[in-house]
Amino acid sequence: MAFALTSMMFALVFSFSAAAEEALVSRIAFGSCANQTSPQPIWDAIVNFKPQVFIWLGDNIYGDIRRPFKLFGNERTIGPWKNVPRFVPSSEDEMRSKYKIAKSNHGYSRLRQIAKVIGTWDDHDYGLNDAGKEFKGKDANQRLMLDFLDEPHDSPRRKQAGVYTSYTFGPEGRKIKVILLDTRYHRDPLRSDGTILGTAQWTWLKKELDGPSSEITIIASSIQVVSNLSACTGPLFYLESWGRFPRERNRLFKLISNSKRDGVFFISGDVHFGEITRYDCGTEYPLYDITSSGLTQAVEKAIPSFLHFVLRFLAWVTPTTMRVMNNNCKHRSCTYGQPNFGVIEVNWDANPVRLRFEVRGVSGEAVNSVTISLPELKKSKPNINKKGKQQFCTLEVDLPWLVRHRVAILFFLLTASVIVVQVGVLYMAISVLVKCLRKSKLD
Ligand SMILES: *[C@@H]1O[C@H](CO)[C@@H](O)[C@H](O)[C@H]1NC(C)=O
Ligand SMILES: *[C@@H]1O[C@H](CO)[C@@H](O)[C@H](O)[C@H]1NC(C)=O
Repeated sequence: MAFALTSMMFALVFSFSAAAEEALVSRIAFGSCANQTSPQPIWDAIVNFKPQVFIWLGDNIYGDIRRPFKLFGNERTIGPWKNVPRFVPSSEDEMRSKYKIAKSNHGYSRLRQIAKVIGTWDDHDYGLNDAGKEFKGKDANQRLMLDFLDEPHDSPRRKQAGVYTSYTFGPEGRKIKVILLDTRYHRDPLRSDGTILGTAQWTWLKKELDGPSSEITIIASSIQVVSNLSACTGPLFYLESWGRFPRERNRLFKLISNSKRDGVFFISGDVHFGEITRYDCGTEYPLYDITSSGLTQAVEKAIPSFLHFVLRFLAWVTPTTMRVMNNNCKHRSCTYGQPNFGVIEVNWDANPVRLRFEVRGVSGEAVNSVTISLPELKKSKPNINKKGKQQFCTLEVDLPWLVRHRVAILFFLLTASVIVVQVGVLYMAISVLVKCLRKSKLD
């Protein structure tokens, strides 16, 4: 009797979860970079969108401790005389309590009731700004992160090195596969051109891409895959991205290309602004990368509002070869520097199936969007893409030198003119002073 009951219950639970997996999914939201101690009003707009799935793209909490910029004093965090690092890891207890704050946020709790929440991590929830495989706290933090996401205790994801995993949603013929990468646990140091994913994750990824087909495949990466903004902002500043690991990036494109899988695109976070980019020369069809960052952390929030126009101007003059520029953008630069989340909507009933990518602001308004038909993400017959517009093929590093470095040139010219003006003023002041002194001596 007891046995029959348990097996019946088992069958019930099993068929329920199988049914949940097979339910048609057409609304997915995603986001990154959420400061747990800052207000998070954006969850209202996300809940209003009624996503069936929500994907965390990392910096789900700010776990590490950031010291303030300090040029002088005891703990100097910048300048050649700096004596302490700007970022330090938190203890396990501190990490746990930060996750607790994040999880008990009212808006996020409402989201968890209506959507399946899945995710990966980036540096600040991994434990340390810009950290890679060398970071000591990674195993403890992996446990805490999987607790935050309610990963079952017997999940294989708790036994592997890194948090990468995959999900498949939807019925036969309308399947969406979501591949979550771990860009931290195995990553070699920046500037090494080494690995991002590490050997085991590469083997796993190949299997995932070669495995059972799906109409749509979303590859979630905490850092941007398509854009290589650093090529145009260096030496002023650099961002993390797949572009900084060119060999690894080519390997990824080749793997997708060889997999015979269509309908693949990327979503990413990390950079504290939103944008949609595409690269047309990585595989036989355009590879889109929809970047949403962040849920609370966004570049324009870091500076006073009367300076926002400067940031927008800089975003607009910084050259980009991959960003999709269209009339759906709120700003001319087609970047969005206020808090935002990403949206993927699939119209399965349209013929052909239509896909809509959006970046949305805090009141749910679209600030950036692209609509395509699913067949546009199919390996087309040769020569359609070959001779056509080569708009999204030029790498940022291949731009003419003056174009590529125009922001840095602008910056140095401005700095130089400020210095020249200051020296001029100083010179005039001194010569006036000298004249006066001479005059008073003569008198
Ligand atoms: C998070 O928000 C709190 C409160 O607004 C602030 O003190 C803290 O510096 C923020 N942390 C980060 C990493 O921005
Ligand atoms: C991206 O930019 C960096 C910095 O300029 C450069 O080293 C790297 O080769 C670029 N990657 C690609 C794929 O162009």
